[in-house]
Amino acid sequence: MTATVPRPTAAKPALRALRDRVLRVAELVTTPLLPADYLDLVDPLRSGAALRGRIEAVLPETRDAATVLIRPGSDWQTHRPGQYVRIGIDVDGVRMWRAYSITSDLGRTDGCFTVTVKAIPGGKVSNHLVRSVRPGTLVHLDQATGEFCLPEQRPAKALFVTAGSGITPVMGMLRNHPELTDVVLVHSAPTADDVVFGAELRQLAAEGRIRLVEQHTDTAGMLDAGAIAELVPDLAERATWACGPVGMLEMLEQHWAAAGIADRLYTERFRPKVLVTGEGGTVTFTKNGTSLEAGGATPILDAAEEAGVLMPSGCRMGICYGCVLPLREGAVRDLRTGEVTTAAPGDGVLVQTCVSAAAGACDIDH
Ligand SMILES: Cc1cc2nc3c(=O)[nH]c(=O)nc-3n(C[C@H](O)[C@H](O)[C@H](O)COP(=O)(O)OP(=O)(O)OC[C@H]3O[C@@H](n4cnc5c(N)ncnc54)[C@H](O)[C@@H]3O)c2cc1C
Ligand code: FES
Repeated sequence: MTATVPRPTAAKPALRALRDRVLRVAELVTTPLLPADYLDLVDPLRSGAALRGRIEAVLPETRDAATVLIRPGSDWQTHRPGQYVRIGIDVDGVRMWRAYSITSDLGRTDGCFTVTVKAIPGGKVSNHLVRSVRPGTLVHLDQATGEFCLPEQRPAKALFVTAGSGITPVMGMLRNHPELTDVVLVHSAPTADDVVFGAELRQLAAEGRIRLVEQHTDTAGMLDAGAIAELVPDLAERATWACGPVGMLEMLEQHWAAAGIADRLYTERFRPKVLVTGEGGTVTFTKNGTSLEAGGATPILDAAEEAGVLMPSGCRMGICYGCVLPLREGAVRDLRTGEVTTAAPGDGVLVQTCVSAAAGACDIDH
């Protein structure tokens, strides 16, 4: 007599159908919440859920900076050193999204990654992350992104020029690219104690992995491009990555362009370059029903979030188009160029709300 062994593949559709039926019944029982909502409560980091992370620890770095250790959900994909992640966090009941460069070592075995945040005066998210957030807090995440990374073909000689929190993407690279053998790092901070990762950078220098030039601006002032060129005489032979305040990046871009080596300089900006401002106006969010007065120098995205309007956003500096919304009527000004975009009633001209300010009254379809 031969026994009939069920084919495993035949069992799968039946199981799936059974699971779907159970879920449908569960949906009826648990309405208005869906079973997925309950699963989110039990296992918010599970595969298939919206990507989240849990803050495991906040580790002080300096008087105003801290490293935040995050355990990402199962669907998190490995980042490339130098990239950033967008984090959505509720501050005083308002969901805010900000970008932070990933600073951790890819070799971590606990599945976590870190970002390192410097609290800026009046900054909502940075102060919350550095001073208030508690381990166990859930945050929303996007997959890591960004092009401020080393090329596959590593440069024979590298120069990093950073200031303040601009060290973060570079630390991500230094921790993960021990194969770089000829590295100069020129870093500026107000004092030695304000250098984020100061002890680790000095250790790397002591081991001969990098040549470290620390500029303590409270006592020694800011470095100009000429001074950097004197400190690094072979600058033209080096591929250079720079991250820091807008003014510093512009100075470097001008110097590198004048020296004919603009293509050897890669920069990462934490905020957009605002060139032109003008009169503001009343911004109306037509679906939401909110109207607010916005200044001519304030991005519509910031003004809306300030008023509690939940807005789509991304990099917040004009790169990713994650904040684009239709302008139905009125005028907005691009803060980077001064260009004014107008819409007649019924139009739907797409505008980037993170780099556009009201230029008179305007209706945004949101
Ligand atoms: C690609 C990218 C990577 C980033 N990586 C890091 C990082 O690794 N570590 C880090 O600390 N920050 C990083 N930032 C900056 C970060 O996203 C936030 O802009 C910063 O934390 C301020 O947010 P906030 O909510 O505290 O300030 P807000 O409440 O948004 O702003 C408060 C005030 O500060 C001004 N402001 C906003 N951002 C800055 C800034 N960066 N510097 C000075 N003034 C500012 C605003 O114009 C406003 O007047 C990155 C930004 C980008 C685009
Ligand atoms: S948020 Fe990225 S372009 Fe506006």
